[in-house]
Amino acid sequence: MVQLHDLKFTPFISEAEINIGIEKVAAQINADFENKTPVFLGVLNGAFLFAAEVIKRFKGDCEVNFVKLSSYEGTGTTGNVEFLMGLTSSLKGRNVVVIEDIVDTGNTLESLDRILKSEEVNLYKIATLFYKPASYKKSLPIDYVGMEIPNDFIVGYGLDYDGLGRNLTQVYKLKNSKMTNIVLFGPPGAGKGTQAAVLKDHYNLKHISTGDVFRYNIKNETELGKLAKAYMDKGQLVPDSITIDMLKAEVRQSNGGNGFIFDGFPRTVAQAEALEEFLQEEGTQVSAMIALEVDDEILVERLLERGKTSGRPDDANELVIRKRIKVYYEETAILKQFYLKQDKYFGINGVGSIQEITARLKEAIDQLV
Ligand code: IMP
Ligand code: MG
Repeated sequence: MVQLHDLKFTPFISEAEINIGIEKVAAQINADFENKTPVFLGVLNGAFLFAAEVIKRFKGDCEVNFVKLSSYEGTGTTGNVEFLMGLTSSLKGRNVVVIEDIVDTGNTLESLDRILKSEEVNLYKIATLFYKPASYKKSLPIDYVGMEIPNDFIVGYGLDYDGLGRNLTQVYKLKNSKMTNIVLFGPPGAGKGTQAAVLKDHYNLKHISTGDVFRYNIKNETELGKLAKAYMDKGQLVPDSITIDMLKAEVRQSNGGNGFIFDGFPRTVAQAEALEEFLQEEGTQVSAMIALEVDDEILVERLLERGKTSGRPDDANELVIRKRIKVYYEETAILKQFYLKQDKYFGINGVGSIQEITARLKEAIDQLV
């Protein structure tokens, strides 16, 4: 995490990903302008790094200009007139490649278009490293795009927040300061899955189920998935460090949203401490541990009922069910203490209709938001 002035930013786009965007744009410009002696117009300040990288990769003859979009008061009725500050010679009849760092609403692009047309260039193309399609309001085509990004405010690699951050070698995005991160607990049969789905939609949270994350990594043969599988194949428990790294990657990859619901994690104090640590790296923290509380006898009844149709053999046998419930309490007791100590434990009555239970959960969560 980095702090610039009053705001916190978290890692978003790596140098390697930025390089892929640079190579892509450079290859396209080389192909289109090979024998056209283009004039590169780097738009200051943000585009200085990207412009340097693209221009370095250009194979033919070219000229380079760095410009700033500026305006002066027009006289009479003309209003503000925009011009390119720093332009040293006429662009008339030239082949121009504008190099921008980012296209957001497209207002800047529209001004550039107007100026270049009035300069009577032969042709011009626009290259940008980053493009926010969800924010773009114009219809001018953008010829070369390094990568499309969601509508987040970013800094680094030339881009600034109030003057700072341009020197960062990778891109960071503004941290959502009001994230709500819930660790959801509940014994088997408590209705955790049902409630997680409702809460996820209501609060725009990302539901991270450890089981799903494991299955995804193993199925897609990620490095961590392969490691985990090696342990599982030998009938051994997957070490905490691997589980933690998978969850961490999941949190890092996700963008937008108001926070997370962790389901099936943490299971140990070591995991709870690791969760604390990597959420802190993201500039956030666990808001609460919420546990659905249901009397054992009701759980047994519910699971036996579910076993009649679910086909899950572990739902069919009362002894197995009671054992699973016992394991849950043994496992979570220590985590309950961990979060109680921080005043973050909320026990919610999990008996009633789905709507009644949802209402109780919302009441607890609304206090956190
Ligand atoms: P426009 O909205 O496309 O005209 O973009 C205007 C300018 O806003 C860009 O040239 C950048 O200087 C700045 N800008 C837009 N989005 C971001 C961002 O996410 N981080 C930093 N600057 C941005
Ligand atoms: Mg700019």
